[in-house]
Amino acid sequence: MAKMWAGVTSGQTSKLADDFNSSLHFDWRMYRQDIQGSMAHAAMLADCDIITHMESQQIIAGLQSILEDLDSGKLTFDRPCEDIHMFVEEILTERIGEPGKKLHTARSRNDQVALDLRMYLRSEAGEIRQLTKAVIKALAGQAEAGQGYIVPGYTHLQRAQPILFGHHLLAYAMMLLRDDARIRDAMVRMNFSPIGSCALAGTTYPTDRRSEAAALGFDGICLNSIDGVSDRDFCLELMSVFSIEMMHLSRLAEELILWSSLEFRFVRIDDAFTTGSSIMPQKKNSDMAELVRGKTGRVYGDLMALLTALKGLPLAYNKDMQEDKEAIFDAVDTVKMCLQIMAPMLETMKPLPENMKKAAQQGFINATDLADYLTRKGVPFRTAYKLAGSIVADCMDKGLVLENYPLEEYLKHSDRFDGDVYDAVNLENCVSRRISEGGTGPASVASQLSYVKEQLKK
Ligand code: ARG
Repeated sequence: MAKMWAGVTSGQTSKLADDFNSSLHFDWRMYRQDIQGSMAHAAMLADCDIITHMESQQIIAGLQSILEDLDSGKLTFDRPCEDIHMFVEEILTERIGEPGKKLHTARSRNDQVALDLRMYLRSEAGEIRQLTKAVIKALAGQAEAGQGYIVPGYTHLQRAQPILFGHHLLAYAMMLLRDDARIRDAMVRMNFSPIGSCALAGTTYPTDRRSEAAALGFDGICLNSIDGVSDRDFCLELMSVFSIEMMHLSRLAEELILWSSLEFRFVRIDDAFTTGSSIMPQKKNSDMAELVRGKTGRVYGDLMALLTALKGLPLAYNKDMQEDKEAIFDAVDTVKMCLQIMAPMLETMKPLPENMKKAAQQGFINATDLADYLTRKGVPFRTAYKLAGSIVADCMDKGLVLENYPLEEYLKHSDRFDGDVYDAVNLENCVSRRISEGGTGPASVASQLSYVKEQLKK
């Protein structure tokens, strides 16, 4: 069919090419931004005497009616249009006639699409920040409730040292706070308007890019028009941050899966976020957590897809860049879904402190404290470490733990032992003695918790 852009070409494209070329089936999602951008553009054109105020008002009213009809569903996207920009312009011209044809003065789809995408992502990134905060809040809530629960801390997935459950959860809160800060930083760099860059070189019309940018809530304009239409860093930067955030969520999801297994039994995930098996009646599977872990790969894939699409592209706009949208939309959708499910799953998760404690009592996770005890008594740490090691080995042989290893046995290893050794290997003491800032001691965990809560209020 003949195209709006029929000029030197006949505009007669094959149906196959039309379908291949069209982005409307995915870029329709930017219709609000597209219309909002066009309204600001029409207003600027009139303010700069490029079109009349009458024409501008007609355009804005026409765009408003399109917006309302799309919002209400009266108007749908089932037209053979090349993209959302053509779609809106075509309907506008149908509705208001000649003035509609003036809207595209002093702009191009190249700057228009870059504008729409920045505005769309500005709003999505804002939502993702809110959703991130909801997950942090859920983590802080569980950390607060579980402040006193002792659980083994792991390295190499081997029981290592006793920690507070709240301490472990707050580690994730810290990571997500940084993710939130990274999104905020990316948004600062993204909030510059490309509109008015036109096809690539700017325009001969006396436009006012800055007032148009300000009307659309931007902090300024892209200073180089070629950069304005070619830059997709803002997509890559957000996708990088989303990838990091998904990596964090996947680690947390993995721990939920482990912790809720029969092997650990540290937490119970609410039935609302688990599934059963079709043949094994006893099964309770952590599908939601597994999907969060699994969907992390998609987001990495989206980032790689766009990085690869942009690699080696000559300036300025190339149609390859239309591939940006499906990648970033998928990344946005995926991160949002994962954050949306993680918050209530964490909120409703039931910690099982008895089991945590039982696990902490096995595995000699107080062996470091035994060595530290001897060190306090004047034994050099390396010697103390060796002594503690042989005591642990002896306990294993005898089926004992450090807490009930008899004093006369301790004395066979070193004459520095005394009755106070039991104090030193007591798990509660092991935790409360870790007074270093950021450590697992209750005071430190409490101050981490208030830091996180403070950040959430900002
Ligand atoms: N649908 C296009 C995209 O998403 C809009 C820009 C098209 N510009 C052009 N000169 N063909 O990138």
